[in-house]
Amino acid sequence: MHKWRSKKWQRRMGLKLDYNYMMSEYLGEGLGIAEDDLLGLNEVTRHIHRDLQDKREKGQLGFFDLPFDQETVEKILKYAKSAVKHFRNVVILGIGGSCLGPKALHSALSGGMWANLSTRKARGGFPRFFFADNIDPDSFSRLLQLADPKETLFIAITKSGTTAETMSQFMVVHEHLRRKVGSKHVAQHLVVVTDAQNGRLRNVADREELTDFIIPENVGGRFSVFTPVGLLPAALMGIDIRELVAGAAFMENRTSGNKPTANPAYLAGSLLFLADRTLEKRINVMISYSDALFDMADWFRQLWAESLGKKVSLTGQEVYTGLTPIKALGVTDQHSQTQLYMEGPNDKVLIFLAVEKLATDVKIPALYPELPDLHYLGGHTLAGLFRAERLATEYALLKAQRPSMTILLPEINAFTIGQLLYMLEVQTAFAGGLYNINPFDQPGVELGKKFTYGMMGRAGFENMRESFERRKPKSEKFIV
Ligand code: PA5
Repeated sequence: MHKWRSKKWQRRMGLKLDYNYMMSEYLGEGLGIAEDDLLGLNEVTRHIHRDLQDKREKGQLGFFDLPFDQETVEKILKYAKSAVKHFRNVVILGIGGSCLGPKALHSALSGGMWANLSTRKARGGFPRFFFADNIDPDSFSRLLQLADPKETLFIAITKSGTTAETMSQFMVVHEHLRRKVGSKHVAQHLVVVTDAQNGRLRNVADREELTDFIIPENVGGRFSVFTPVGLLPAALMGIDIRELVAGAAFMENRTSGNKPTANPAYLAGSLLFLADRTLEKRINVMISYSDALFDMADWFRQLWAESLGKKVSLTGQEVYTGLTPIKALGVTDQHSQTQLYMEGPNDKVLIFLAVEKLATDVKIPALYPELPDLHYLGGHTLAGLFRAERLATEYALLKAQRPSMTILLPEINAFTIGQLLYMLEVQTAFAGGLYNINPFDQPGVELGKKFTYGMMGRAGFENMRESFERRKPKSEKFIV
């Protein structure tokens, strides 16, 4: 964090949550959330707050305290300072919570694909970044061809250290490096981010003396963006990670009280919960009015879906909870999905991600005075048009009696992005409490993983393979 960031600057950079258009006062009786319903959550909010804070104090929910881990930040900065001199490319091997965070940071704060297309000088000397979060052999082979191994650092990120996708890629890369840079140099091109004790990657890293960074045991994958999972790549991108965690710490302070209306994370969680329970809005569309924030919506999609989509409640009942997150991009998707959101089933809440002041603006020249239906645009700017289109869409949705809320960032910078990520994490943990489910596990994902292990011949998973092989054969219900 820069020493010159005053308290006043921090307050000016505070995120705002505008939820007027969620409320029945604007949408009409029975069409929006009733103030009384919101107030009615006060008691359960206090209870959930106590429960989360108890677990935090017992060290079970490590994500809450990550913004205060200065030691890790300094360790990462020290490593990054030297590593950026040696590598032109960084390739992240990881999936889900082990990739979406760094990917979102790259797009939001480091220029995303535009940075990769720029010169190294224009990137401030920082490397290009690639995210191998799929195992599609077509793209993975292309990536290995594109990134000269001599100039590339591969970072394998996996909490469990056993995820088949990441570990397969790790083994392919290991062999690729052995052939291209020689066995003696493999370790110079590999860094691992994993658990301190558990998992196969831990064994390999220890045996081969690979540079490693730790994911704390009490932090789950999708809540790990403020561990080295997000911070190490971010530092290598040239992002000011001190300012990023300072933003998160600022939001920690704003989300530490139990009064729903003063706590933006609890408020947003409560609104989406009530929209589901009282208005049957089971779909949450996060629409980013910034290209740079589109991958934030992708990151949130996984966080929200994997945390809240649960079959069984904390008391053992079958509940089948979950809100379906969709990501969208303004204004692009106004010409794609908005028709559906405006006139299709009234089952969604729109969450606008908006930026008050974008980094640049482009003036529209006042051409064609003889054509008034074009000439009116002249003298305006693209940022002005962008803003007008967002406000117009919000208002049009209101007119169509569709609820929406807006998360407003004063600017896109490390401090505001730190706030946004932290707020959405707390919102998700809190929403888990409202639904009375465990937002920190993912038994549904685990089952698919186990069947894969069985099919790929992993010892100990023979019964999964047998179950798969005994499955009812598909009949000929397909056409060619
Ligand atoms: O949020 C989660 O826990 C998951 O999305 C994991 O991040 C994902 O399955 C990858 O797991 P791992 O980091 O163990 O490879």
